[in-house]
Amino acid sequence: MNLIEEIKKLKKQRHAVILAHYYQESEIQDIADFLGDSLALAVAAQKCTQDVILFAGVHFMAETAKILNPTKTVVIPSMNAGCSLADSCPAPEFEKFLKNYPDYEVVSYINCTAATKALSTVICTSSNAEKVINTITKDKKIVFAPDYNLGRFLIKKTGRDMVLWKGTCVVHITFSLKEIQKLKLESPQAEIIAHPECEETVLSVADFIGSTTKLIHYATESSHKKFIVVTEPGVIHQMKKINPDNEYIPAPNDSGCACNLCPYMKENTLEKVYLALRDLKPEITLEPDLIESSRKPLQRMLEISGAGTLPS
Ligand code: 13P
Ligand code: SF4
Repeated sequence: MNLIEEIKKLKKQRHAVILAHYYQESEIQDIADFLGDSLALAVAAQKCTQDVILFAGVHFMAETAKILNPTKTVVIPSMNAGCSLADSCPAPEFEKFLKNYPDYEVVSYINCTAATKALSTVICTSSNAEKVINTITKDKKIVFAPDYNLGRFLIKKTGRDMVLWKGTCVVHITFSLKEIQKLKLESPQAEIIAHPECEETVLSVADFIGSTTKLIHYATESSHKKFIVVTEPGVIHQMKKINPDNEYIPAPNDSGCACNLCPYMKENTLEKVYLALRDLKPEITLEPDLIESSRKPLQRMLEISGAGTLPS
């Protein structure tokens, strides 16, 4: 069976759209109708007019699509496509933690569950976090969750003193400063580009820091020809498509192996995309109350991002 042809047929039959994140396998990226970072995917999901959204990404992203466009059927290729950051911040524990900070504004990174979002004042992604934090007036104190490294990066960027939840991304904390520096010595002309979920020491040597979309744009526009890419290497597929003559070196971990794949993102396969479209499952379902309460902080983020308002 030709999976790609079958997926195309099913997509028509189901009136479906395929949204995919840059960390998906190349073959999934290539069949997607829309590719993006977390923010762009949330906006795209909100605007979808098709009946079915096949979300090739991780669970919190598909859940966000359901919250923003609840009348659509949202399916994900694998329910095991989780996220270590979302897992680090279960809503009941977060609620207890927040009791210590009753007057604080709660800024949550989109990499969290719907229930954790519902406890937040506003959501942000790695591409709009600075802008979101800057909308909070100086007289307010801030709790930031769940990514500790992104939080620390934002404290430096915004000058705001935030209380940080101590979650981490299993992929971005494994990059090795020593190995990156070794690569830089071998190729001094290469630029180091990194995602803000990396540790502070790694970020301190980066020439550019940004979300996946921003990293792709930077590598597209830079006059440099060689890049050490310090994020999940799935992004390199688009970088190579845009500039095939450039060289992109995936950053290594401590053992020198450039094998920092996100195990959750890689749960999705082309075959599971086909099955999800055929069977319309696994489906993302949420209680209407939770959709309502988690939608408010997301809506606030979209308004700040100039990403448009939501249908009421
Ligand atoms: P982006 O929003 O930059 O695509 O990041 C998503 C993510 O999960 C990074 O690990
Ligand atoms: Fe979560 Fe990290 Fe995977 Fe992104 S790369 S989905 S933050 S575990």
